[in-house]
Amino acid sequence: MKFQFCVISLHITIALALMLLGDSLGYRLIKEVLKTSSRYTITTQVEVRNNAVRYKRTSRLRQSSVEDAIADDEGIPAITVAEGGGNGSTGFPEVRRKRVLSGVQPTGSLHLGNYLGAIRQWVSNQDTYDNYFCVVDLHAITAPHDPKSLSRDTIQAAAMYVACGIDPSKSKVFIQSHVTAHSELAWLLNCITPINWLERMIQYKEKALKQGDNVGVGLFDYPVLMAADILLYQADLVPVGEDQRQHLELTRDIARRFNDQFCNKRGKRKTFKEPNALIVKEGARVMSLQDGTSKMSKSAENDFSRINLLDSPDVISSKIKKCKTDLFKGLEWDNPDRPEAKNLLNIYQAVTNRSKEEVLREVGSMSWGTFKPLLAEAVIAHLSPIQHRYREVMQDEAYLSKVLADGKEAADLIADQTLGWAKTAMGFYLPKAPLKLLK
Ligand code: TYM
Repeated sequence: MKFQFCVISLHITIALALMLLGDSLGYRLIKEVLKTSSRYTITTQVEVRNNAVRYKRTSRLRQSSVEDAIADDEGIPAITVAEGGGNGSTGFPEVRRKRVLSGVQPTGSLHLGNYLGAIRQWVSNQDTYDNYFCVVDLHAITAPHDPKSLSRDTIQAAAMYVACGIDPSKSKVFIQSHVTAHSELAWLLNCITPINWLERMIQYKEKALKQGDNVGVGLFDYPVLMAADILLYQADLVPVGEDQRQHLELTRDIARRFNDQFCNKRGKRKTFKEPNALIVKEGARVMSLQDGTSKMSKSAENDFSRINLLDSPDVISSKIKKCKTDLFKGLEWDNPDRPEAKNLLNIYQAVTNRSKEEVLREVGSMSWGTFKPLLAEAVIAHLSPIQHRYREVMQDEAYLSKVLADGKEAADLIADQTLGWAKTAMGFYLPKAPLKLLK
């Protein structure tokens, strides 16, 4: 143990010396050592030079283990040596925890699909990553909306993040429209995104079809705003449901196009990091209770097609009782003719935290009539503590306001910095007034 510690210590000393000499080998060496060691403290220094705020994150060897910071999510390590964004002189290469950014639209009540596809994995990974979760209210107005309920839905969604287990001491929670850099970067990205890239978006086609004559430019532009949300934070990972994969690919394409167009000179750092989607295996696509072949969704007219996170036990029981089934005997996962069976087994597995084999052993030979009350009971038991916590959070307005104010402050710092880099890269003349500094 002692010997290993000395070797790592020596590596770090050499690496730091090389870093001081400005040699990129130093950073690479740090990265290598981080892969094999779990004994680092990540520190952030804020420097003010020439009226510019700069961040310098460094890793320092410490005695105690930080294994908790090294995730093995599908082979993606939790610590990264980031390019640091920025152009040449401004960006610092940095060693930091991988950053996660994600969000949900506040359009009506959040449902089991949002929870199992997205929010649950935000919660289970929050000790591993550097987390930013926003309520994407600007996205919520891309379809006709009711101004009377937008603000209530927004605050309820934020409360629901906390109720589901997002801990504001580990994760920043904020409202997208409070951080104005999102809309500003979206405009800049609009100007470099080819129209035909957006015309290919499946979700746009589906939603446009539903909206008929009433399709706004915002709906078409939705994925560019989403790209801005992600790229502003130099996010490494974006935990989402399967339906968002195409938007993530588009985000990567936009980042690459911007970097190629504006940061391709020697010595210029890339402005944006290309993020990866983080998609769970189970729950990535929760289907409608009324049709096992279409996604559970907030916009479906029939409320019996989804389980809302705030549905009462009676409502959950009656929705499951009335959900679509089939005439086959027993329950099975992989029969393509039984999408409803697959969906309900997936839900049961997700809320009971069991393996497929365990679930099949328990319920495989059951009839629908025996399985449905069991499923309802499991869903109610899983959601009950979330609903209880939600009511507590909603009653503590001061707490929620503080969480959102802290989240906005932290988000603003990173977002403004990236926006500044993007504008510099594009050649804008920037104001010379000093930037707001950390309090
Ligand atoms: P939204 O509100 O439609 O969905 C929020 C999250 O829930 C997931 N999801 C599902 N997962 C499994 N099964 C379902 N039936 C299901 N329905 C929804 C979605 O995949 C998503 O992860 N465009 C995003 C919002 C957004 C965003 C972002 C996400 C805007 N900017 C930046 C990540 C990063 C969306 O789909 O919202």
